[in-house]
Amino acid sequence: MKYYLFGNWKCNPTNAQEAKKLFSDTAKGVKRSEKVETAVFPPFCYLAEFAGKKKEVAIGAQNCCFKESGAFTGEVSPKQIADLECKYVLIGHSERRKLFFETDGFVNEKTKLALSFDLIPVVCVGETDEDRTAGRAVEVVKNQLAAGLKDVDVKKVFAAYEPVWAIGTGKACGIAEAREMARVIREVLGPDTPILYGGSANAKNGAVYLKEAGYNGLLVGGASLKADEFAKMFQEIEGLE
Ligand code: 13P
Repeated sequence: MKYYLFGNWKCNPTNAQEAKKLFSDTAKGVKRSEKVETAVFPPFCYLAEFAGKKKEVAIGAQNCCFKESGAFTGEVSPKQIADLECKYVLIGHSERRKLFFETDGFVNEKTKLALSFDLIPVVCVGETDEDRTAGRAVEVVKNQLAAGLKDVDVKKVFAAYEPVWAIGTGKACGIAEAREMARVIREVLGPDTPILYGGSANAKNGAVYLKEAGYNGLLVGGASLKADEFAKMFQEIEGLE
């Protein structure tokens, strides 16, 4: 069984010196392993600095444009990201959906374009607190998968289940709920798509999602900004049977 430990740095750190330190400390805390693949997703401005530099850590971008090039001020295209030797790109993170009005249609276009440049899209899905309370969690996630991955070869993408209410709140998803959603996602996408869990994952709870809830890996936010915590997560996952 292969596992994945991915760190989404979001809009952190705020200067190059700290970013370089975090990257080198992260690389020191993990190792190249057949069992656990590690990747970090730094802000765009650091991608060129880090991509292809350490064999222990793959690099991904946090977003990409839905077009290859042209008059799209402020955007970075998947072709440009691939040209930097990045391997992955996050698509449809809930912060992009909520704060930057990304629709499932955008998610679908970006995913297809990223695949055309041989990037591996990590397509993020997840329900809000309101959705879950109303009993709509499964329906919302199924709809996001159906629309976001329409006409996509799902064997070539990763899915990340990130319940919005668990992100940055310290309230990680319960194992039973997480297991049920992993089952639903696998039912939709089949056995060949790696599924990650994200949402307040840390060194204490992270490996449990892999061991007990059927996930192939983690997409870590806050805890990936602490290299020692991230290293502990790596060790926990490496130690799984
Ligand atoms: P936290 O781990 O900080 O909750 O963030 C999760 C996330 O959004 C990863 O993409």
